[in-house]
Amino acid sequence: LASARRIIITACGTAMHAGFMAKYFIEKYARIPVNVEIASEMRYADMIIDENDAVIVISQSGETADTLAALRLSKKRGAKVLSIVNVAGSTMARESDNVILTKAGREIAVATTKAYSAQLVALYALGIFVSEKRGTITADKEKSLITELKKLPVKIGETLEKVNESVKSVAREIFNGQDVFYIGRLSDYATACEGSLKLKEISYINSQVYAAGELKHGTISLINQGTSVVAVASQRNVFSKTLSNIAEVEARGAKVICVTDEKMSENISEEYEKIVVADTIEEFKSSLLVIPLQLLSYYTAKLKGCDIDKPKNLAKSVTVE
Ligand code: M6R
Repeated sequence: LASARRIIITACGTAMHAGFMAKYFIEKYARIPVNVEIASEMRYADMIIDENDAVIVISQSGETADTLAALRLSKKRGAKVLSIVNVAGSTMARESDNVILTKAGREIAVATTKAYSAQLVALYALGIFVSEKRGTITADKEKSLITELKKLPVKIGETLEKVNESVKSVAREIFNGQDVFYIGRLSDYATACEGSLKLKEISYINSQVYAAGELKHGTISLINQGTSVVAVASQRNVFSKTLSNIAEVEARGAKVICVTDEKMSENISEEYEKIVVADTIEEFKSSLLVIPLQLLSYYTAKLKGCDIDKPKNLAKSVTVE
């Protein structure tokens, strides 16, 4: 990976959202270009891939048909393949040049949660390791990133406690509604993608996600009086931009729920409903921000009486096209 000209990450669904996050992290620290490809598209796209590329496939099951096809295509074209999978001995683990096992434990519910959290951590750790090999981070930076990474389990625990009541109250507001929009920028957008997928997957509420800057290019026409908008706003460098997007939808009647952390919450007006997670460094915020979004889907689905572990029309592992 450290000597690759480019890294291609390919996956489906939630695993692909972990890939979105990894792109920001790896490019920032390791300074290698990272493309994230939808596996079901990549397998048919006749992409330019060769031995200078390193391909990372991400999959909980290690059996998703489209991701497996993208893995096989990459190998055929000469790229080295690393898989990040949760199931040891899965087809992807067996066919890759190298494997990182996420070891999240057996995941039974169709909607993936803990495997996603483990994928993020594996990708952060990988990013740190590759950066160290390439000499693009200092030893001090490496140490501080690892120290913060190790604090995440405790902070996830704190976050679960902190957000529980506010998430329940938002679930009561949205469970009877028709649509929920999710917005965010950069890694907040990646988190919003995952939040939106979780909500539609288990509560059957129509949910759309947009990079907040895209609102003006069409989506804002869908905002009406009372439309629910979940805004993930945690990234300092785009914070003021996201705040203006929040103000824009609010001015058109949206009911905005801001998902943020303690530090950034101080800069968000009290007039907005907020869900506030524990603090960590910018790069790892997604690991905490996703918790209330997963919980929101859970409580919403519960209020609607849905079968949370086995949503309709979905299989845990998509082994056919
Ligand atoms: O087993 P995989 O990680 O390859 O599965 C990929 C997707 O099918 C999966 O993440 C799907 O989107 C989940 N049901 C989302 O919760």
